[in-house]
Amino acid sequence: MTEKSLTSSAPLTPEQFGRLAAAGGAAPSLHNSQPWRFRATDDRTGMLVFADRSRAVPATDPTARALHISVGAAVLNIRVAAAALGLSTRLRLLPDVAQPDLVAELRFVPPGPGEHSAADAELHPAIGVRHSSRRPFTNRDVPERLVGDLMAAADHEGVVLAMLEEAETRRVLELTADAERRTAADIAREAELRSWVRLEAPANDGIPAAALGPLDRDARVPMRSFTGHPPTGVPASARFEPLPQLATFTTAHDDRSAWVRTGMALERVWLLATLHDVRASVLHQAVEWPDTRWQLRDPETGPGYVQIVLRLGFGPPGAKTPRRPVAEILELD
Ligand SMILES: Cc1cc2nc3c(=O)[nH]c(=O)nc-3n(C[C@H](O)[C@H](O)[C@H](O)COP(=O)(O)O)c2cc1C
Repeated sequence: MTEKSLTSSAPLTPEQFGRLAAAGGAAPSLHNSQPWRFRATDDRTGMLVFADRSRAVPATDPTARALHISVGAAVLNIRVAAAALGLSTRLRLLPDVAQPDLVAELRFVPPGPGEHSAADAELHPAIGVRHSSRRPFTNRDVPERLVGDLMAAADHEGVVLAMLEEAETRRVLELTADAERRTAADIAREAELRSWVRLEAPANDGIPAAALGPLDRDARVPMRSFTGHPPTGVPASARFEPLPQLATFTTAHDDRSAWVRTGMALERVWLLATLHDVRASVLHQAVEWPDTRWQLRDPETGPGYVQIVLRLGFGPPGAKTPRRPVAEILELD
């Protein structure tokens, strides 16, 4: 192979762009808002990923932090789908200050010598089966070795994943319960939340009834109540695992780039967990209030901004959630 053939890129076909966009669109997002748009570059060797502010969730996410995390997760999926096509991705985050909604530019190239896009390709089968599992998990621990691999996966994106010890877990659960109570009393946030729940009419966004879970009968695991207090239209309450396994994603800075990288780390970790039959659900409530978010910082591990709290474990898979069709999120011209 010549030097040139290792580095030059061939244009992708519309079908390949469709596959990349479908993978991006399968990412997790706050309330399944899917706040992204994708555009093929003019030379068809790359893809631009935009934040779609028309799909923001402003009462819950006034700074668009969660929106950027969601878009970051989509970027990671596109990268993994490109690897499954045998391509490496050259990635630039926030490449143009004049276009603030342009979150990432991805250029697809043949892998260089020693590049391991094969490792990314291995995550590909998990994209279509990863879903939030909001049901009780068993008491079985996530294996130590996998925990190490999940930490390395987050570190790959420059984000620190910490698996919490018991005392820290209890502290984070209390902060989450406090935040959940506050959200319940906030008319704007409650109304916004309900506007994303789809109990009857089928839709291609938002959260369907089948994906909602019960609340914890013993009130130890403060799952988000999507349909109010008391909840309606969801399974009856159930007994959750007594001590959930929680992980936090922390970054050194709290800017748009850190948020996008958090989304990439979240999705890399979630896909890897999925390949090992480990389920996950996000407990985001405490991150949504400035003071509970501040208290989430672990005094032991020093400064850093907690971006996401993830509950991990073994249990039933999450239900499928809908997505907008590719034609709505991908621009080819
Ligand atoms: C930034 C962010 C915050 C989220 N917060 C919560 C949460 O607090 N509670 C919850 O049950 N799910 C939460 N989710 C999960 C989304 O609701 C879920 O990804 C979306 O509905 C799509 O469903 P899926 O994960 O099954 O594909 C969050 C996801 C993201 C990306």
